[in-house]
Amino acid sequence: MFSERVISGMRPTGALHLGHYHGVLKNWIRLQSEYPSYFFIADWHALTTHYETPEMIEASIWEMVIDWLAAGVDPSQATLFIQSKVPEHAELFLLLSMGTPLGWLERVPTYKDQLEKLRDRDIQTYGFLGYPLLQAADILIYRAEHVPVGEDQVPHVEMTREVARRFNYLYGREAGFEEKALAAAKKLGGKRTKLYLEARTAYQERGDTQALEQAQALLHEAQSLSMGDRERLFGYLEGARKIILVEPQALLTTASKLPGLDGQKMSKSYQNTIALREGAESITKKVRTMPTDPARVRKTDPGNPVHCPVWQFHEVYSDEETKQWVQSGCTSAGIGCLECKEPVIQAILKEQQPMLERAQQYLDDPSLLRALIADGCDKARKTAQETMRDVREAMGLDYS
Ligand code: TRP
Ligand code: SF4
Repeated sequence: MFSERVISGMRPTGALHLGHYHGVLKNWIRLQSEYPSYFFIADWHALTTHYETPEMIEASIWEMVIDWLAAGVDPSQATLFIQSKVPEHAELFLLLSMGTPLGWLERVPTYKDQLEKLRDRDIQTYGFLGYPLLQAADILIYRAEHVPVGEDQVPHVEMTREVARRFNYLYGREAGFEEKALAAAKKLGGKRTKLYLEARTAYQERGDTQALEQAQALLHEAQSLSMGDRERLFGYLEGARKIILVEPQALLTTASKLPGLDGQKMSKSYQNTIALREGAESITKKVRTMPTDPARVRKTDPGNPVHCPVWQFHEVYSDEETKQWVQSGCTSAGIGCLECKEPVIQAILKEQQPMLERAQQYLDDPSLLRALIADGCDKARKTAQETMRDVREAMGLDYS
């Protein structure tokens, strides 16, 4: 259960663009082969800001899942699901809400920011204030250790860590904890028991975090422990409480190197995007009309790639030789801008080809898509239910 899981979610905002691909999705695709990964559509999070127009959400969900699959997110490796199909998220959110200080939510920087930015919407609501706590439940319910997110989401992961710590502190208490932990340590067997106890002393007496990590790794590998013993042993390393909810770490997604067509960040609200499955004709037209170095009024005016968004596309898409060709051709006015853009167009179309093919099967047969998500929801739900059993038990809510 403490295998190092990855979790991340996206609000359903409709079709994704190449900025998402080069920023977020490539990262997910790498992670899915390294860790058990859970990727989900945060439809409830979308409701916190769009509760007046819930009908927009459904179409966006399917568009987005097709884009994930098109990009190479692989349902045979990662678990793909929809948040609202795993209602346990809501139960954990509710239980966590009981002991979460209001100040923690009011202090999250995105809160005031969004209230300012989304002035056209009434989000002075209980649901919107709770946004980061719902996110905490999303993460904690999978006991995930890694959360790939962009910079703006780091405060949410930080708050999630505080929520987990508080939960373990409040509900990880247990009569005879020390005796039970020691008995569990014995069960590790011989050398491992000794290693575990020595590492604990090294951490607690000398703050040796390397020893702590070694002992945690040892517990990760110990297959035969019961869930309760495992929680005790993780908790005993750090204090005198069971660890029921795991503190996650943000895995910072490096910002996409691909800017928008105008050189600003690629974003739907700037209308400077190329969609992941945009048609070839439209891509060609969009790149051909991209602004270039304003110094190149005429073809005979030399330019400087540093002042040109097309160059940033070359940085992502072109090999050394092509980049050389751009550098010398641009600065000597040896090539025209349309000529310069051609390899970029070809590279985008080439990158897109396998994506279109992967998407096609789901467009032809949407039931495939539904089945794959239903399967992911089932899998996610099983994991979530295991955590909720422990959470209810820890809180003493397991009466029948
Ligand atoms: N708030 C995240 C975003 O806007 C989406 C999200 C919801 C999320 N739940 C999550 C991300 C859990 C990571 C983990 O990008
Ligand atoms: Fe930009 Fe290429 Fe034109 Fe130079 S030649 S300004 S890099 S498009």
